[in-house]
Amino acid sequence: MASKAACILVQLVAAAALSQTSLLELKEDVLRFLPEDSAGRAQSLPLRSPPPRQSKIDHVVVLYMENHAADNFFGCMDLPGFDGIKGHRIPADPADPSKGFINITCGSAPYVCSKGPSYATFEGKFAKDGNPHRYPYSAQSDNYSALWGAMENSTAVTMFAPEQVPIKAAIAQNFGVFNKLFTAVPSASSPNHLFTQSATSCGMTSNVLWKQCGGNGTYFPQPTIYDSLRLHNVSFSLFLNSTCGLDGKPCHGEDPHDPDAGSAISTPDVAMIGVARHKDRFMSQEIFYQQAANGSLPALSWVLPPIQACDHPCHDIAKGERLLKDVYEAVRSGPGWNRTLLFVAYDDAGGYYDHIVPPFEGVPADGSPCVIPGVHPDCGPDFDFRRLGLRTSAMLISPWVAKGAVYQEPKRGPSNTSQFELTSVPATIKNLFNLSFFLTHRDAWAGSFEELLLESPRSDAPLHLPEAPPASSPWTPPPPQVSEDSLLPPTPQHCSSWHGKAEAKCKGLSHVNLKQQRNIRLLADMLETPLPDMSRMDFFQANSWLRSSWNKWMRSGSKSAKTRQSHSESTEMI
Ligand SMILES: *[C@@H]1O[C@H](CO)[C@@H](O)[C@H](O)[C@H]1NC(C)=O
Ligand SMILES: *[C@@H]1O[C@H](CO)[C@@H](O)[C@H](O)[C@H]1NC(C)=O
Ligand SMILES: *[C@@H]1O[C@H](CO)[C@@H](O)[C@H](O)[C@H]1NC(C)=O
Ligand SMILES: *[C@@H]1O[C@H](CO)[C@@H](O)[C@H](O)[C@H]1NC(C)=O
Ligand SMILES: *[C@@H]1O[C@H](CO)[C@@H](O)[C@H](O)[C@H]1NC(C)=O
Ligand SMILES: *[C@@H]1O[C@H](CO)[C@@H](O)[C@H](O)[C@H]1NC(C)=O
Ligand SMILES: *[C@@H]1O[C@H](CO)[C@@H](O)[C@H](O)[C@H]1NC(C)=O
Ligand SMILES: *[C@@H]1O[C@H](CO)[C@@H](O)[C@H](O)[C@H]1NC(C)=O
Ligand SMILES: *[C@@H]1O[C@H](CO)[C@@H](O)[C@H](O)[C@H]1NC(C)=O
Ligand SMILES: *[C@@H]1O[C@H](CO)[C@@H](O)[C@H](O)[C@H]1NC(C)=O
Repeated sequence: MASKAACILVQLVAAAALSQTSLLELKEDVLRFLPEDSAGRAQSLPLRSPPPRQSKIDHVVVLYMENHAADNFFGCMDLPGFDGIKGHRIPADPADPSKGFINITCGSAPYVCSKGPSYATFEGKFAKDGNPHRYPYSAQSDNYSALWGAMENSTAVTMFAPEQVPIKAAIAQNFGVFNKLFTAVPSASSPNHLFTQSATSCGMTSNVLWKQCGGNGTYFPQPTIYDSLRLHNVSFSLFLNSTCGLDGKPCHGEDPHDPDAGSAISTPDVAMIGVARHKDRFMSQEIFYQQAANGSLPALSWVLPPIQACDHPCHDIAKGERLLKDVYEAVRSGPGWNRTLLFVAYDDAGGYYDHIVPPFEGVPADGSPCVIPGVHPDCGPDFDFRRLGLRTSAMLISPWVAKGAVYQEPKRGPSNTSQFELTSVPATIKNLFNLSFFLTHRDAWAGSFEELLLESPRSDAPLHLPEAPPASSPWTPPPPQVSEDSLLPPTPQHCSSWHGKAEAKCKGLSHVNLKQQRNIRLLADMLETPLPDMSRMDFFQANSWLRSSWNKWMRSGSKSAKTRQSHSESTEMI
């Protein structure tokens, strides 16, 4: 591992034509970050240097949302060129035609679901005895979908009508939507968050931490796109709904009933050392709005939605609409608009059904040195990473984007099998900002959005989008009545369908949810404190533990010295 990492290091340095000195400076620099005045830090890197190869885009903004297959939002919009869901049928039983077909209904999706969708993202297009694990995979067909949770009237197959999501519909009319943008891994949030920011998931195929995949430390060690930007002196920030004290804003977990609520950055993002070491770039969403208004956004803005507006089931989709409107209008009305590219993507299909069979031709295996060979039973399904996951919802917004565009496969490669997928994000950033190396074979293969830009910018982009649908509950509601009944759905809450396990379903706020459990494990590890007894916690207690632990981690000075030491191995890889 160490020598492999060193080897990659040498390759990267050679490719970058950067001196060993500047690399060491970077390493020094990234380990020195301390929580100081975050507004001041925004100016600490030049906007872009060395100059990019292109003269169109100075500001890339990524709004990284949660859990929606492409059909769920766009399948009912009748967009020309979009392979939608209207009139599509799946056999109720592929072995028995007499059982008929499953109806897929447009306009039947509730804003706040009462249980998580449960379409299997990993094996959803395979026969029950199929091989979804290693190339050559067995044949895939949408005909098998009903075997894997695409059941009539289930949350998985209820689709939004365009009038339910007027903001996304307006974006689709005015800008670009992807007909074929796939998740990097046919799995859940964590592996896809890792691919989107680092072009590998270190072998992880489930929502787990690196340890569970054979790793010997707390943090996933691979370099991220932020490391690469830093190395090239290109500015970036991660905007959170709160930076938990760094800019005087309160810290919080994911409690939608908490007046300070929004989202702290969560697993798996800070589970990557290449995210965690850039603490000094974590800023509040308010600073995003201010910088958009005065034209001082960094080259890359990574916007993490507040948890209540992230569109994860079963949070309120109306709030996600409102957030998208706010982010769009902020960049549209700012002086930087003419040089801005806003990409909105959903990290995974989220247990929602999508009817397209994802491609696998030419997908490069994940050969990143952080993949630890061997069987790691807690790591998730065995997988060679040579196929993509289901289509996800994705939008491209800019004056440099054609009106009403629907994007198919990449036309300019880089390989004849290249696809748009979530790893297109680091690929695009690399290309636009003339970074000197790709992170892995995967971002070197993925299509780049650069090819979708027009020759000259449009001037007809609307300043305002329609009103967002009314939210089902206030953004800062009073605490709910604490009784078993009142805490049951449809109280907006984070529900998962992952594994289809009973405990993964929406159990109400009297339980600590799976995401909280994962975050608690990570933070306990990062702080080297004992794991609390989660079986005795309810949602609110878990939230309060997370809030104070996150705050402690963000402010940790002496701790970070210790953390720095234990990271010195991992940082070899930058
Ligand atoms: C891109 O970066 C390389 C160094 O990696 C530099 O030689 C080249 O001039 C840059 N291209 C442009 C157009 O800035
Ligand atoms: C499902 O579709 C069939 C025709 O394909 C139709 O007869 C039936 O009424 C539909 N069911 C519902 C609930 O819409
Ligand atoms: C899927 O099922 C339809 C009929 O229900 C059949 O015509 C088609 O050949 C099947 N496709 C595959 C790939 O099995
Ligand atoms: C789906 O819902 C419709 C309308 O409520 C109902 O008629 C139909 O029987 C349901 N289908 C199943 C399989 O439950
Ligand atoms: C992880 O493993 C590598 C290689 O076996 C070793 O050099 C390193 O010290 C280990 N790191 C930790 C944090 O244990
Ligand atoms: C980044 O800035 C540092 C300090 O000014 C400089 O030494 C280094 O060469 C720069 N790196 C690049 C890739 O421009
Ligand atoms: C958090 O999000 C809410 C809703 O978008 C917004 O009103 C608030 O200003 C945000 N807070 C911070 C600190 O970004
Ligand atoms: C723009 O806004 C940011 C955030 O409020 C502030 O730090 C910066 O000084 C402002 N820049 C200019 C040029 O006004
Ligand atoms: C953007 O460019 C258009 C012309 O293409 C111009 O009318 C407009 O004023 C520019 N906007 C800004 C904020 O510079
Ligand atoms: C892609 O190119 C390779 C050779 O470069 C060729 O063997 C292969 O058939 C091509 N594949 C497609 C799908 O065109």
